[in-house]
Amino acid sequence: MSSYENEIKRRRTFAIISHPDAGKTTLTEKFLLYGGAIALAGSVKGKKTAKHAVSDWMEIEKQRGISVTSSVMQFEYEGYCINILDTPGHQDFSEDTFRTLMAADSAVMVIDASKGVENQTRKLFKVCVMRHIPIFTFINKMDREARNPFDLMEEIEEELGIQTYPVNWPIGSGKEFKGVFDRKKREILAFTANNGQREVDSIAADLNDTNLEKLIGSEHYHTLVDDVELLDGAGYEFDMEKVNTGQLSPVFFGSALTNFGVEPFLENFLQMTTPPLSRNSDIGQISPFDEDFSGFVFKIQANMNKAHRDRIAFMRICSGKFEKGMEVLHVQGGKKLKLAQPQQMMAQEREIVEEAYAGDILGIFDPGIFSIGDTLCSPNRKMVFEGIPTFAPEHFNLVTQVDTLKRKQFVKGMTQIAQEGAIQIFQELDSGMEEVIVGAVGVLQFEVLEYRLKNEYHVDIRMSGLPYQYIRWIENKDVDVNSLDLMSGTKVVQDLKGNKLLLFSNSWSIQWALEHNEGLELAEFSR
Ligand code: G4P
Repeated sequence: MSSYENEIKRRRTFAIISHPDAGKTTLTEKFLLYGGAIALAGSVKGKKTAKHAVSDWMEIEKQRGISVTSSVMQFEYEGYCINILDTPGHQDFSEDTFRTLMAADSAVMVIDASKGVENQTRKLFKVCVMRHIPIFTFINKMDREARNPFDLMEEIEEELGIQTYPVNWPIGSGKEFKGVFDRKKREILAFTANNGQREVDSIAADLNDTNLEKLIGSEHYHTLVDDVELLDGAGYEFDMEKVNTGQLSPVFFGSALTNFGVEPFLENFLQMTTPPLSRNSDIGQISPFDEDFSGFVFKIQANMNKAHRDRIAFMRICSGKFEKGMEVLHVQGGKKLKLAQPQQMMAQEREIVEEAYAGDILGIFDPGIFSIGDTLCSPNRKMVFEGIPTFAPEHFNLVTQVDTLKRKQFVKGMTQIAQEGAIQIFQELDSGMEEVIVGAVGVLQFEVLEYRLKNEYHVDIRMSGLPYQYIRWIENKDVDVNSLDLMSGTKVVQDLKGNKLLLFSNSWSIQWALEHNEGLELAEFSR
């Protein structure tokens, strides 16, 4: 195998998804510790501050430096080159969180064993399903009282519509957590609580070992034997093909905080998950082994400092080898440019990248020329990657300008910020931009909008909440929106590109619209 091929095959690029507090940060940190990328636990991000419901945008800005660096992390582990993409949670939850999943080749879903499937996981999961990427589940916090593992499996299967295959199975939980049974090796890894904080020992023991009953106690032993029999007899079979297409999720139990089950998870995961995948473009699938360079922008991070209007565009490399200073074609802009100082995030520090391959993420300086989804490629070929969908916002505000004389700045600011992908703007059909409906995936985006309009465009705005909760794109191109039969609270609007949409205040009015308008097709994403 050539070294070029080898560089690509050893890469693993994945996103970690979870509901806030399930343990994503703790697990990521443990991965980085194993990879030697950090030396101390607790150093991934300013967790305490990040967790506060910060309403002051300046505070968030101060933390930007931290969250930028931790949004993509690269490290080496046993010959693998790993890129972890963080999907921001809490207040930071935005469309970027969804878009990040477009750059990943697989996803790790962290679930709190006492809570099961929670809202944010459910939302992010939908994007994984849409992309058919492999999904691995880590059921965390087994050192705390957990729900019955069979119930958890059932919930994942029913709520998320994916089959599960437990690679290991827990023995008790909380104070009674004795370890996990490895179904392939047919042995157990024993967990001994050590103040709950320290690393724990793993002791291998056979299921038929007479000492096992003594080690984990008679009750746990018999439950385990019964559980394993049930799993082997009635559970789904392991099928790598189904894992690869996101239909079956390998499940692991453990405790990130006490370091239990993290290393076996990482090792199994790295073996099972996929190297960089091919990507769709207008000239067909682009293989990561294709020697011509190509990549696409999936996220744009605006610099909040108004002295520097620059932005960082995050690009996922899809093929070819990147070399510092190389010239690429920005297809949508129709211009060649030199990538002189792209940055890569090596765990905590930003580094100037000398070379990079398919699967890697580069942070490139953006003087305001890139849009989400743009393609960059070798100048000798012209191609466009499949676009990144627009995701349905869930929060809506009516925005009006305070000083109507500043209309020009208002329109410019609103349009530019929407083009960056931070917010989405909608208008009533045939109306001007006196008032605009702004939709966002996370509520923080409204604060960002207000702050940026004031500081960058010198425009004050007034915002009032709107009762809508759901938005759907009308897929039928030929439909006459004025003749649709809709409930009184449903509103017809259009987006920046002129696509028609419906705004609903509740989920049953969506159903009503579908039932009363034969052939109407509504979508949660817009391509
Ligand atoms: P997140 O990124 O998904 O939001 O979760 P994070 O890792 O920050 O974990 C949330 C809380 O859960 C943290 O506690 C963390 O220590 C705890 N935690 C994570 N994994 C485990 C686990 O396996 N077992 C137990 N018992 N707890 C776990 P915190 O008190 O909110 O924060 P901190 O003071 O520990 O930083």
